[in-house]
Amino acid sequence: MKIKQAVFKCSSPRADMCPATTEPEYAFIGRSNVGKSSLINMLTRNGKLAMTSSTPGKTMLVNHFLINEEWYLVDLPGYGYAARGKREMDKLWNLISHYVLERQQLICLFVLIDIRHEPQRKDLDFLQFLGENGIPFAIVFTKADKLNRNQIGTHVQNYLHRLEDSWEELPPHFVTSAATALGRDELLDYIDSINRSLASQNA
Ligand code: GTP
Ligand code: MG
Repeated sequence: MKIKQAVFKCSSPRADMCPATTEPEYAFIGRSNVGKSSLINMLTRNGKLAMTSSTPGKTMLVNHFLINEEWYLVDLPGYGYAARGKREMDKLWNLISHYVLERQQLICLFVLIDIRHEPQRKDLDFLQFLGENGIPFAIVFTKADKLNRNQIGTHVQNYLHRLEDSWEELPPHFVTSAATALGRDELLDYIDSINRSLASQNA
């Protein structure tokens, strides 16, 4: 799929303040600093679209980006960023969980995982939460440019193996790098295939 146009639409401080749109939405979630905003910029080939930062906790709102006037990419705040204190963390979790559970337009949640790390409890718990609530998701490994090809294979297998402990069926997964655009075509083709099947259902 070609991205002809990517436009920032709005930022929402609460899930119930998100725009009343009808287009399908694909949202990016994951720990703070995992590369959610960078991935949106990589996919849209616009380094300035979503704000990124080497300091965790950059994205604090739900950000909607309209793609080709047909569907939305949604940038969410990171979960589990402790440095801001409990009150702020509770507020963010409230925002994230309400968006994930209640947003009718949400078609697929992409859960981003830093490919360099061992499976982390916070991510595994979040995946569990999605499973218990029947939220469709896919896993996106980020920062693959930090590993060599062999290490990528080993880390991905290790992660999927860990998921097999609690999941009968493994979710789709993608290996990406915002630095090299690895995985860009695969991710966009996946979104395109879902959009096409939605369009044929509605036809
Ligand atoms: P929050 O909004 O704070 O939750 O973070 P985020 O998940 O949106 O992360 P962001 O995209 O702001 O990136 C965090 C840092 O990781 C930045 O310094 C990015 O340049 C870096 N980064 C993101 N993706 C990649 C990648 O694929 N490769 C490399 N090498 N660095 C990356
Ligand atoms: Mg961000």
